[in-house]
Amino acid sequence: MKNLFVLVGLVCFCSCSNKYQDMSNESHDYQIIPQPEYLSMQQGRFLLNSATKIIAEESLHNEASYLSDLLEGATGFDVGISKETEEKGNVKLELDASIKNDEGYVLSVSFERIIISGKTAQGIFYGIQSLRQLMPIDIESRQTKIKELTIPAVEIRDSPRFSYRGMHLDVGRHFFPVSDVKKYIDLIAMHKMNTFHWHLTEDQGWRIEIKKYPRLTEIGAYRKGTAIGLAGTRNAPYTYDTIPYGGFYTQEEIKEVVAYAGKQHITIIPEIELPGHSSAALAAYPEFGNTKGPYEVAKRWGIFKEIYAPTEETFAFLEDILTEVIGLFPSKFIHIGGDEALKDEWEKSAYAQEVIKREGLKDEHELQSYFIARIEKFLNANGRDIIGWDEILEGGLAPNATVMSWRGIDGGIAAAKQGHNVIMTPGTHCYFDYYQEAEEKRIEEPITGSVRFTTVEKVYNYEPIPEGLTNEEAKFILGAQGNVWTEYMPTYDIVEYKVLPRMTALSEVVWSSKESRDWESFHSRLQSMVKRYDALGYNYAKYSIISPD
Ligand code: ACM
Repeated sequence: MKNLFVLVGLVCFCSCSNKYQDMSNESHDYQIIPQPEYLSMQQGRFLLNSATKIIAEESLHNEASYLSDLLEGATGFDVGISKETEEKGNVKLELDASIKNDEGYVLSVSFERIIISGKTAQGIFYGIQSLRQLMPIDIESRQTKIKELTIPAVEIRDSPRFSYRGMHLDVGRHFFPVSDVKKYIDLIAMHKMNTFHWHLTEDQGWRIEIKKYPRLTEIGAYRKGTAIGLAGTRNAPYTYDTIPYGGFYTQEEIKEVVAYAGKQHITIIPEIELPGHSSAALAAYPEFGNTKGPYEVAKRWGIFKEIYAPTEETFAFLEDILTEVIGLFPSKFIHIGGDEALKDEWEKSAYAQEVIKREGLKDEHELQSYFIARIEKFLNANGRDIIGWDEILEGGLAPNATVMSWRGIDGGIAAAKQGHNVIMTPGTHCYFDYYQEAEEKRIEEPITGSVRFTTVEKVYNYEPIPEGLTNEEAKFILGAQGNVWTEYMPTYDIVEYKVLPRMTALSEVVWSSKESRDWESFHSRLQSMVKRYDALGYNYAKYSIISPD
């Protein structure tokens, strides 16, 4: 009797297996965003069963655990990591030095086995993200336990076009707890983007604990109220609520987030704004301002006249802060802001004028360059490089600075022509706080201060290399980034709504080759992606992805 069961079992296994071996697939089985460099559909499907294991060497256990969590969540099987060498029936992760790009990968799925190889663990992680998109969307809910999880056979060879693929989040105007920041990081990882630009200090709130200067968060992290609705825009008068608002990340929380991002191969670039956007810091430590104040953590949005005084004491204060920042963030880049620093206070300050004279500077723009160059020198001496918004070009660029071009593309062009690295974030295409459609087409969209709009198609058609650069100059364009300014985003669900699906479009801009970009193809693949958003419980601008006419 026992033997009969074994026999029946075997027959079933063979016929089930053959079913998957011969199965043909359709192009809708391969809906991957961003579009891979090379994808060849194959016949047959890999069947994941309760015996499937992940084969990975010790150095790939982080990636293997990520995949194992995904597969176990999808099936309920115990898809453990194994040292065994039998590929058949298993998923193998392996390093392969012959792959040229550090972030590249090869994903090979057949009826018999799955192999993901990469030059680095990071490449393998991206291979896993592609594998994820070949699996049924139900896997994302982590609730449905799929009994017969099959994956279409495929050969993919893939690598990114740009080395910098970023998303930014302003936590100064509104504060988002660690749990939300982690969700944002998950989104970045799913899109094979590799950088999270964390905008940590603002006029409206200082959000990072600095042990040497506790008042930065005791005082600087809280404002006494907030401008209501569209107050102050389009001639609307300012009205404020009186609800104290604030929050900050402890250094322990920062370490937790950095580690969380690191596991998903995301570098976090912290931004400490200087010399402007510093009202919150000056409310806490007025001695580093140009006037006696009074200073307060800003309650409204916009640009403020408050700016650090260019004194030796201020430089010491900022260097102390940056020393703690360096200790928390392993990123090569530290963003030092540099945008929208009004110079009125420096014009009026006898001390600032003295510095201009002492240093042989022409004007306050050159004083800002002097300020930034000193900070750069300090960071370079500590093994880090600076990124600044494109205003840092105005009085002459600091020697090793990377420029983030946001007021259009001219700053990026000028910096590349001067041989400086550039990250493109022009407001026209990369500001995801803008509306997603023209007013007459807008069906549902939370209020936003700016009247401008950027559609998902416009983002998709963005070309980060500006015209007019030589091939040599174009090499300085490291990539692009979506920016999310949160004046009008009091809650994280609005952040999600604003970035999706536009960051999905941007992910293809920064990953896939220029030649392969095709709006119709993307739009069709996006229909699968939004089902994935639904399964993941993401909030997104549904109306902006209806049909492409
Ligand atoms: C910026 O949008 N102020 C960089």
